[in-house]
Amino acid sequence: LGYAGGTSFVIPCESVGCKRDEITLIRNATESNSYIANGIDLKPGDEVLMTDQEHPGGLQPWRLRAKRYGVAVKTVTLPKPVRNASQVLNLFNDAIGDRTRVIFFSHITTVTGVALLPRSCAVARSKNVLSAVDGVHVIGMMRLNLQEIGCDMYSSSPHKWLQAPKGSGFLYVRDEVIDRMWNTMATEGWNEPNLRAERFQRVDSSNVPALWGLLATINLANEIGIDRIERPIVDVS
Ligand SMILES: Cc1ncc(COP(=O)(O)O)c(C=O)c1O
Repeated sequence: LGYAGGTSFVIPCESVGCKRDEITLIRNATESNSYIANGIDLKPGDEVLMTDQEHPGGLQPWRLRAKRYGVAVKTVTLPKPVRNASQVLNLFNDAIGDRTRVIFFSHITTVTGVALLPRSCAVARSKNVLSAVDGVHVIGMMRLNLQEIGCDMYSSSPHKWLQAPKGSGFLYVRDEVIDRMWNTMATEGWNEPNLRAERFQRVDSSNVPALWGLLATINLANEIGIDRIERPIVDVS
């Protein structure tokens, strides 16, 4: 059944503002970003808009899609430093064009550590553009509320700040978008809509112990209190 599909494995999703049905447990953010880049229907010439500060694990899945299927990857250049949220919002707003189908950006970038505010997702939604967020540097470091962010997809690697075992990533897909996404791996259940996001984690044999490690680190972070972890980090940054 792959990564804990069909077991009693419980991930406390309420604390990140989503339903269990919207979360897929896979290996890491690179894998999640690849599922996103492979999974959305795009025609040659359709555009994906991203920032110039994306990690290779976020950028390269789109480059592959571009090379193989003729999708265009367009980049907005973030100011260094970003002075306020409106700067980024305006950049995305101005760069979204008739062919833009997806915006992809890091919640916190790996290059400068700037936190890109989620209002960009609302701008995208208002223009009928999907938003996908790479959230590697958020889980375990600051409070996350996927509903407030309003993105369509969100990927993460909790081994970073949560100190979860490597190989225990997740992909969030908003319920309304799940049926639009193709699977990348296929075994029993790949095309079964009732499984919701669990259909993406049907990868057969996999590293289930890593998920128990993930659960332990979530429980530990909740015990300490995510606000208590976040406060000093935001203070020093
Ligand atoms: C923003 C961002 N995305 C993706 C990745 C890739 O993470 P992983 O190797 O766990 O897939 C990293 C790793 O540093 C990252 O910083």
